[in-house]
Amino acid sequence: MPIRTIATTPFDDQKPGTAGLRKKVAVIQQAHYLENFLQAIFNSVPELAGGTLVIGGDGRFHNAHAIKTAIAMAAANGVAQVIVGRDGLLSTPAASNLIRQRGATGGMIFTASHNPAGPDGDFGIKYNINNGGQASESITNSIHKASQEICEYRIVEEARIDLRQEQQQLEGMAIAVVDPVSAYADLMEQLFDFQQIRAWLQQGHRICFDAMHAVTGPYATEILVRRLGAPADSVINAIPLEDFGGGHPDPNLVYAKELVARMFADGAPDFAAASDGDGDRNMILGPGIFISPGDSLAMLADHLAELPGYRKGLAGLARSMPTSRAVDAVAAARNLSCYETPTGWKFFANLLEVSRLTLCGEESFGTSSDHTREKDGLWAALAWINVLAHTGNSVPALATAHWQRYGRHYYQRHDYEDLPAEQAQAVMQTLARRLATLPGQAYGDWAVSHADDFSYVDPVDGSTASGQGLRVVFGEQARIVMRLSGTGTGGATLRLYLERYEADSDKLDWRPEEALAPLAQVAEELSGLQASTGRREPSLVT
Ligand code: G1P
Ligand code: ZN
Repeated sequence: MPIRTIATTPFDDQKPGTAGLRKKVAVIQQAHYLENFLQAIFNSVPELAGGTLVIGGDGRFHNAHAIKTAIAMAAANGVAQVIVGRDGLLSTPAASNLIRQRGATGGMIFTASHNPAGPDGDFGIKYNINNGGQASESITNSIHKASQEICEYRIVEEARIDLRQEQQQLEGMAIAVVDPVSAYADLMEQLFDFQQIRAWLQQGHRICFDAMHAVTGPYATEILVRRLGAPADSVINAIPLEDFGGGHPDPNLVYAKELVARMFADGAPDFAAASDGDGDRNMILGPGIFISPGDSLAMLADHLAELPGYRKGLAGLARSMPTSRAVDAVAAARNLSCYETPTGWKFFANLLEVSRLTLCGEESFGTSSDHTREKDGLWAALAWINVLAHTGNSVPALATAHWQRYGRHYYQRHDYEDLPAEQAQAVMQTLARRLATLPGQAYGDWAVSHADDFSYVDPVDGSTASGQGLRVVFGEQARIVMRLSGTGTGGATLRLYLERYEADSDKLDWRPEEALAPLAQVAEELSGLQASTGRREPSLVT
């Protein structure tokens, strides 16, 4: 099995986006494409030589091949030890946890998150650093730069790697194949009161977790069924499949239809949750109720300190800029600091690393705590279940009590997918040009207090992230945010975020689309989005 140096030429499209490099499978399958990008990582992170590298993925089509390639390249690049999930599986939060627990130099996570999988689907690669969090902007920039200058890569040719055999050697590098679930499940057992949850389940409370045929099936089965004693049918779509069963493992009202229908029908379980392709997202439901991610974050913020892993109190809270300000209300009431960061988990990771935060979340169905450096779908589900068991409240009762105390932030995200890039840019520019003229102007019931293109100075490393989304703020009452997606693989996706606050107890049970319709009109007036793209409605509302 010789170590070979292979000559190659750069590809001009290897710039990582919001969460790593994401491409169509056919793009990744081009000769040298994957190898180039992986070598760019080895070149940009020289500490990997002699270090430990964690490798795993969400099990999608091409996963095993990519992982074996990464292992063969790691051996050729002098990595001392690779720790890989059995069958090449590791959820994103479990990979983050392993990196931290094993003191690894970094990790490669092969995932395109919730994007569809299969030969016509997407594939992706994320590099995470030694704290378990995603590589910072400066590292991803240097990986991109290395990918543009690459002229050769190193690989052990014809390497025989078995993703089930526990201990192997490859050209002096140790390969440890580990159970992807156990360390993660042990961590959950430290954070939550498993005894209390077991008792709650024994009282007859029913739960349903939809793994959407993606990576969380084995995790949910081990934790919810084996360790907590829930009936086996509490986990649905539990077997990870290469094409996710042809589905779209994005836990929202549109793609997790089966689960939503079950929760809005008679005899619904007491609690339901779903996760995405790589296990970092979550959707929370109760009988007849969907808890929007921003509300879920706020409600967890209000109760987390009651759970075992968090009894010492919360260090602080954070949300991404487009996420609803529901959590800000809890932070204010509890005298906690609340950070507003750009979209993407890496900005939270910095704050988590210096213990400024305990809990953080994004509107895009992401919630997590300081136990790891990625968002964590199953953690959010367990946190909710533990809060229900601890308080004895139902999901609807908990939500109603929360809104009565703090008021309700109605919230929706409207996605306009697959727009020609120039058209999407033009819409952004139209709004951007108007921003300076908006403060003081009235639209409908609201007056603009502030309008800008969001820019963030990281309080930890002092770096600046600018151009992070256009926001039009109507005081505490409402907000309109517009930004371009950084994770798509085809065309441009424009995201319009709408938020409206109501404190009046008679106005707490509107349907979000009703509450937000007037604000959507204001957004159209300001941006001309629909008029200039010819779209009469968003492609997806979450
Ligand atoms: C999207 C979400 C963002 C999330 C990211 C990775 O990014 O909006 O909150 O962190 O996926 O899961 P976007 O496509 O908007 O850049
Ligand atoms: Zn994901």
